[in-house]
Amino acid sequence: MRRMNVLLLGANGQLGSDIVRLWNDDGVRVRAATRADADVTDAEAVGRLVHDAKPDVVINTTAFHNLPACEEDPEIAFRVNVVGGRNIAQSAASVGAAIVQISTDYVFDGTKRTPYLEDDARRSLNVYGAAKIATEDVVRQANPEALIVRVSGLYGLAGSAGKGGNFVETMLRLAREGKPVRVVSDQVTAPTNTAEIAEALFPLVAGRTRGTVHLAPGDGCSWYEFAAAIFAACGLSPDFAPVTTAEFGAPLERPMYSVLGSTRVPPLRPWHEGLMRYLREKGHATT
Ligand SMILES: NC(=O)c1ccc[n+]([C@@H]2O[C@H](COP(=O)([O-])OP(=O)(O)OC[C@H]3O[C@@H](n4cnc5c(N)ncnc54)[C@H](OP(=O)(O)O)[C@@H]3O)[C@@H](O)[C@H]2O)c1
Repeated sequence: MRRMNVLLLGANGQLGSDIVRLWNDDGVRVRAATRADADVTDAEAVGRLVHDAKPDVVINTTAFHNLPACEEDPEIAFRVNVVGGRNIAQSAASVGAAIVQISTDYVFDGTKRTPYLEDDARRSLNVYGAAKIATEDVVRQANPEALIVRVSGLYGLAGSAGKGGNFVETMLRLAREGKPVRVVSDQVTAPTNTAEIAEALFPLVAGRTRGTVHLAPGDGCSWYEFAAAIFAACGLSPDFAPVTTAEFGAPLERPMYSVLGSTRVPPLRPWHEGLMRYLREKGHATT
């Protein structure tokens, strides 16, 4: 059987590195590309990379997703996410390859109180969300063989370079430094281990799924509940208390509820199981 050739952009990111680590199937060959191979905003460099790789499918896990930085510099947010996504989708189309674009729960405004489904209306509250809505649209326009995969609250072994780590590591660092930890208790999402997404994505890509799919645990929690679970699993008892978003004084608006549900695929395992897997694999958990 002919192997499926996958070109993966963002291969050193949280999700990208878990795809490289976990897609060990004999039926697939993953060519892992980083910024050193092509800056996604450079259409020619992306075109050369895609033509050299001769992929059947290109997966775009790259993003500019530091939210305050997106508000300060919307031009970069749109250039990396929207123009970058379009460059990749167009280049893929030009060699007859499909495109898989990773998107976000932040395309929704959070006014719902039950999980957002694939066909729910999108309305962003911030520049990052607006850029990801536009990315979904230009990718679909540029390549009819597109799969948009929305995910939420990612943390992975690699940590996000653009965000300086991930939420789990930030909580552990603050607790170990003896700092007071204040976490918002009125924003509900579904924090997700990127390993769980990498594994669920494989059959979708191998099966040539198209359209939009949500990959997330079916159950949500507040960031405060998530932090409490991290501390409990690691045997830590920091000075820890909930705050409201208003008390926290966040500089930009975020959806208050952004759990993703799906009409197309089963939910991932509950968020707590994904967390325990991460803590074990990272060598943090004591329980
Ligand atoms: N993290 C979350 O909480 C979250 C939530 C929902 C959705 N998502 C989406 O999920 C996807 C994966 O997120 P992640 O957390 O795995 O991201 P990540 O760890 O921050 O990785 C992003 C990758 O994009 C690369 N990149 C950024 N700008 C680039 C450019 N101009 N040219 C080439 N590469 C560039 C980075 O390379 P360098 O290392 O060289 O900078 C990095 O490898 C993204 O589409 C994101 O929008 C993330």
